[in-house]
Amino acid sequence: MRKNSKINDIDLHKKEKFLAKQDILGPAILFANSDIRKMLRLARARRDDVLYDLGCGLGQNLIVAATEFPFRVQRCIGIETDPIRLRECRERIEDLSLSDRIEIFNFPIADVISGQKGNISQATIVFFGLEIKPKELADLRKNLQPKCKLVYYFDNGLIPEVKPTRVDFPFYLSISPFIEEPTSRLDWLLSVVQKRTSSLHRGEPDEQELWDELAHDLNIRIGYAGDDLRTIKTYRKRLDSYFSDRKR
Ligand SMILES: C[S@@+](CC[C@H](N)C(=O)[O-])C[C@H]1O[C@@H](n2cnc3c(N)ncnc32)[C@H](O)[C@@H]1O
Repeated sequence: MRKNSKINDIDLHKKEKFLAKQDILGPAILFANSDIRKMLRLARARRDDVLYDLGCGLGQNLIVAATEFPFRVQRCIGIETDPIRLRECRERIEDLSLSDRIEIFNFPIADVISGQKGNISQATIVFFGLEIKPKELADLRKNLQPKCKLVYYFDNGLIPEVKPTRVDFPFYLSISPFIEEPTSRLDWLLSVVQKRTSSLHRGEPDEQELWDELAHDLNIRIGYAGDDLRTIKTYRKRLDSYFSDRKR
């Protein structure tokens, strides 16, 4: 029970501000533990991996990775800048006596992937649960060690310039330095939508059917606020600029 449980305007205002901020940041824990295990299985995480979670929220991905069989990853690193989440995350890790295996750094993700802060080159698995823009992809290409596994997830996290090596929806995995590049929009769509047979006719789906499927899935996962359409537009634009750059 709080010492002073009287609800007043200041309390309400503070709570509103807190919730609004949490909304912008997205959920502090994105996945159920069974999903986190799926992600770790996709990355084939093991004891001697060095796992980074870029934007680790309350550190749940790291906690499952460090504690559960068969993963038991000995070195897990979380990156988080929100002060409330940072404090809460560190407290959880201390309470679980995991400080020898999990470290949380208050660094902006951009500084970590550009190599200015921390040591991302030691990572063997990186989980990136936010949008991966071209600048971030270029930094990851430059600073991840070869064969580092990048795990990202559906919503707005797909990478138009790269095809995934393995998929276990909603998780995608690509391996540094990300040489599996798409040869066409259709090639990329087939790799991310993972639909080999058309629902409309015999044979492979065409590009429009795959855009429709992607738009549907985004709509279901990220809602009807127009974010799904914005995301589709962004993917198309990035694919087009990737192919026009390649022609030059
Ligand atoms: C959607 S949450 C995901 C939490 C966690 N990775 C998970 O899967 O449960 C993304 C987190 O990234 C953090 N974040 C967003 N932008 C960041 C940045 N530029 N630098 C560091 N952390 C950031 C947010 O505060 C938030 O906690």
